[in-house]
Amino acid sequence: MNVTHLECALCGQRHEANTLQNLCVTCGKPLLVRYDLKKAAETLSPDSLAGRESSLWRYREVLPVVDEANIVSLGEGWTPLFKTDRLAATLPIKLGLYIKDEGQNPTQSFKARGMTAAISMANELGVTKLAVPSAGNAAGAMAAYAALAGMEANIFMPADTPHANIVECRQTGANVRLIDGLITDCGKIVAERKEEMGWFDVSTLKEPYRVEGKKTMGYEIAEQFSNESLVISDENGNRNSSPKTHNSSPGKLRLPDVIMYPTGGGTGLIGMWKAFDEMEQMGWIGSERPRMVSVQSETCAPIVRAFHAGERFADEFENASTVASGLRVPKAIGDFLILDAIRASGGTAVTVTDAELVAAVAEIGALTGIFTAPEGAACLPALRKLIKQKAVREGESVVIFNTGSGVKYLEAFA
Ligand SMILES: Cc1ncc(COP(=O)(O)O)c(C=O)c1O
Repeated sequence: MNVTHLECALCGQRHEANTLQNLCVTCGKPLLVRYDLKKAAETLSPDSLAGRESSLWRYREVLPVVDEANIVSLGEGWTPLFKTDRLAATLPIKLGLYIKDEGQNPTQSFKARGMTAAISMANELGVTKLAVPSAGNAAGAMAAYAALAGMEANIFMPADTPHANIVECRQTGANVRLIDGLITDCGKIVAERKEEMGWFDVSTLKEPYRVEGKKTMGYEIAEQFSNESLVISDENGNRNSSPKTHNSSPGKLRLPDVIMYPTGGGTGLIGMWKAFDEMEQMGWIGSERPRMVSVQSETCAPIVRAFHAGERFADEFENASTVASGLRVPKAIGDFLILDAIRASGGTAVTVTDAELVAAVAEIGALTGIFTAPEGAACLPALRKLIKQKAVREGESVVIFNTGSGVKYLEAFA
């Protein structure tokens, strides 16, 4: 469609778009997809979205895949944005508090967004065998999309990955290997074996398209945040009384003041930041941006540590552990992209303890009805810390990303 080329996120080297690529051939860093946004904007505008499909493929002009017949989709994206006044009332200041519920995606997490894009592109480029290291939810999503596409799925997960993730992968036909180690150890095994086995490596940010799927969270936030009828509110204990249409207000779109994002590899945060840049280039928004907040567990916090140390790259976090398995990423290949985005946005990075994030699941659940993943729940105690530090102020709007569903983590609540 409108893809022009791939570009190294660090050194800027141009790579061809219509061949299989992993990392930059010169510096080994992630490749990002670039579009002819002028051309995209000829048919894609906030008003043009009215009546489009209720999936992330509504943003077709800024997504890869040339031939629509190659799209592998389970109906992912266009997840609800909830305004939760009852949860907001538990905070010491008055805020507009929203939860973007990614647990409503196929395979119950936002990983479906990345996988629909990556596996559609793999399909277009003739791949038949895939491999991925995963903390759990990416594996479940990869297994499902590979099954739908008729591809072989080879999954490497830490042995202590939540049981539900292991079961769902096996039940959707994947080859699952459990590794005594962390996701980084799983990634090394995929890298060592992929050539010999003929696998295409779909590790996040080591292929260019998962981030494209995840960036649609940024487009959705802008679209939903700019049109009250697209927000579900707990006011009067009910959904918004206005009709749920796909009309956005004409002119510029609005964004929240703060986005709280539970960060492992950081692909969603990087993707949303990219989406905001694309939207600005297409004239949908101005130069204003939400303050991006990276939330990590105290026992695996490489990004938080690097942010406060003023580093651009994050050292590997030793002895990483947390029940929020998606946050157990001791070293992220896109570390500099996460850190650059947080800093450019005027945001920050904050840790919470495992006890805090597990307790937050029940607190959010009891006040909103959303059974969040521990990763998403981590954003609530993190927000309380920011309020205390006066880094979030009275009257601001805050979106918490609930990146998955609590049903995958039953062990954590035992
Ligand atoms: C539920 C959940 N939340 C957050 C993350 C971290 O996502 P990202 O890699 O985009 O930082 C993961 C990754 O596995 C996850 O499964």
